[in-house]
Amino acid sequence: MTSMTQEQFQDALNARVSTIEKVLVSALPKNITKQKTIADAMEYSLMAGGKRLRPMLMLEAYRLFGGSDEAEIEPFMAAIEMIHTYSLVHDDLPAMDNDEYRRGRKNTHIVYGEDMGILAGDALLNYAYETAVEGALKLKDPANGLKALQILSRKAGVYGMVGGQVVDVELTGKPISEEQLDFIYRYKTSALLEASLMAGAAEEEIAQIECVGRLVGLAFQIQDDILDLTSTAEELGKPIGSDLRNEKTTYVSLYGMREAEEAVEEYSKEAVEILENLSEENEFLDQLIVSLIHRKK
Ligand code: IPE
Ligand code: IPE
Ligand code: MG
Ligand code: MG
Ligand code: MG
Repeated sequence: MTSMTQEQFQDALNARVSTIEKVLVSALPKNITKQKTIADAMEYSLMAGGKRLRPMLMLEAYRLFGGSDEAEIEPFMAAIEMIHTYSLVHDDLPAMDNDEYRRGRKNTHIVYGEDMGILAGDALLNYAYETAVEGALKLKDPANGLKALQILSRKAGVYGMVGGQVVDVELTGKPISEEQLDFIYRYKTSALLEASLMAGAAEEEIAQIECVGRLVGLAFQIQDDILDLTSTAEELGKPIGSDLRNEKTTYVSLYGMREAEEAVEEYSKEAVEILENLSEENEFLDQLIVSLIHRKK
């Protein structure tokens, strides 16, 4: 892997974030009348910042596999970020992690009330599919869009993120085994990263890219657990100490800080190795995964 300088990487990253922000703004619902509150709440949560990692991974995987017409993948990028955002809006609700800040501001249910928080999540989830279906219908070969929708919907649901959240919630406050923790992380976090990478992938390499998503997701969630203990609310944009307050067993509480840090590095390097063995190459994608090892937010 030849590497870009840190500065070149940072510029490339910023450029991608602003492209994604534009895609999201233009995907939001328009011409809303009586139900304006929900459109405001959707925009409030979706446009609150955030790293935009999932649409970024999707775009880079699309490019990795030779995609060159970005308009094709943009509706799916918007969809995955809407699904991710809804998962955060619901994750913060009083019945779940009961957190008050997200992406550096009061979260949706605090500003709009719990009822609108729930509905904003529902609306984002549904709108994600409205957006992706429209995108699929515009493709030269809509069957490709249908495949991407199959991946997206499955990885977001019972066999994916929702499944992970269910076990996370059920085992809150209870001692959990290594296998249970692995299941929770693979589902609640890796699943959406897998979907991001798989949506634009070539059929022959879909299993490898899924594996990359699983590894990056595990590293990402372990780092999230580390930051919950070591960061500050200002830097993270969300409360720290949430896991302790909720008596969550995390990778850190189960294995210790040192092992957790090693695991983040290990999983990330394994992911990059798989990418390096593919027939295609995307240097930015490799560097993005490496940069997440020491992410501070
Ligand atoms: C937070 O995801 C939820 C986890 C899976 C740990 P991100 O850390 O990607 O949140 P944003 O999108 O940057 O706000
Ligand atoms: C949540 O994990 C993952 C989701 C599917 C939302 P966390 O509960 O640790 O995420 P944060 O720390 O609130 O972002
Ligand atoms: Mg949670
Ligand atoms: Mg949470
Ligand atoms: Mg967390």
